[in-house]
Amino acid sequence: MTLRAVIKGTGHYLPERVVENSWFEDKIETSDEWIRARTGIERRHFADEGQTTSDLAIRAARAALDDAGMQADDIDAIVLATSTPDLTFPAVATMVQAGLGMTRGFAFDVQAVCAGFVFALANAEGLIRAGQARRVLVIGAETFSRIMDWEDRSTCVLFGDGAGAVVLEGVEGRGDSNDRGILATDLNSDGQYRDLLYVDGGVSSTGTAGHLKMQGNLVFRHAVEKLARTAHTALDKAGLSPEQVDWLVPHQANERIITATAQKMGVPMDKVVLTVADHGNTSAASIPLALSVAASQGRFKPGQVIVTEAIGGGLSWGSVVLRW
Ligand code: UT7
Repeated sequence: MTLRAVIKGTGHYLPERVVENSWFEDKIETSDEWIRARTGIERRHFADEGQTTSDLAIRAARAALDDAGMQADDIDAIVLATSTPDLTFPAVATMVQAGLGMTRGFAFDVQAVCAGFVFALANAEGLIRAGQARRVLVIGAETFSRIMDWEDRSTCVLFGDGAGAVVLEGVEGRGDSNDRGILATDLNSDGQYRDLLYVDGGVSSTGTAGHLKMQGNLVFRHAVEKLARTAHTALDKAGLSPEQVDWLVPHQANERIITATAQKMGVPMDKVVLTVADHGNTSAASIPLALSVAASQGRFKPGQVIVTEAIGGGLSWGSVVLRW
């Protein structure tokens, strides 16, 4: 017998304010046409002034608990991925814990930028398999609009705000690839690439939050190569082949990266969940948002194989293979 971390519920929240590509046209030298053609993004949501990452996370968490038919006190742990916390500390996860009225268990944040949700899922699975927790709320939540340089056209048109959450529960499986739940994970980082994508501020350096800086075309090249490789590695670990993949739920940074990665993996585009047009790049929130949107549309059927993959600042990248 093997303990498997099975997804019991999903939920998401997007701030009400929707900003179309055309909004940028009189602010910087760009066009709706360029943004659509180079990224696939059409619009994104921005948090209102005063609306924080924990506000978005709490709403997504409540939706995931409802979907799972659980109460906050059924949860043993909260693992939350973010690079845009409300405060330097405490962890946003503890703010969510309080917001949900949860008075037991433990809560902490994971920071692996756009790969954050994949790292959080892998950590949550580890907690379940180690017997530290039976039910874990895993959340990706971001307010990247707060770290944009609004004069940098090469980055400010790309990102959006939002949150997504899943409830994982430990369930006994047989230990083979027919089990439901997380079947394999693959995590990687290489800090020699940290200058390709970073924020130029922080507590122990500038004392400010800073702004996002990215060498987009270099990140693009790393992304296609590393994402296809990590997905293959995780599939290998799970004992599955790319032909057995029912759904690819990739990090939603750029439709061209998603298409190239799917092609390299040998997964046709009708098996790829795409939300980048409506959400933009929401960093650690993008995969749980895409999972929750697709699940709420009834697209995933029990027993189907889902592969998630993401890359972000660090560089850090990874993949999770699971059976729905
Ligand atoms: O989520 C974390 C991981 N991040 C990513 O995966 C993002 C990876 N990178 C990308 O998605 C793409 O590299 C971008 C969308 C950021 C840029 O697309 P690109 O095809 O790599 O374009 P580029 O950076 O090579 O720039 C091409 C041209 C440049 O002009 P010149 O130098 O050729 O005259 C840019 O200045 O496009 C220009 N450009 C823009 N033009 C209009 C850059 N941003 C814009 C813009 N509007 N917003």
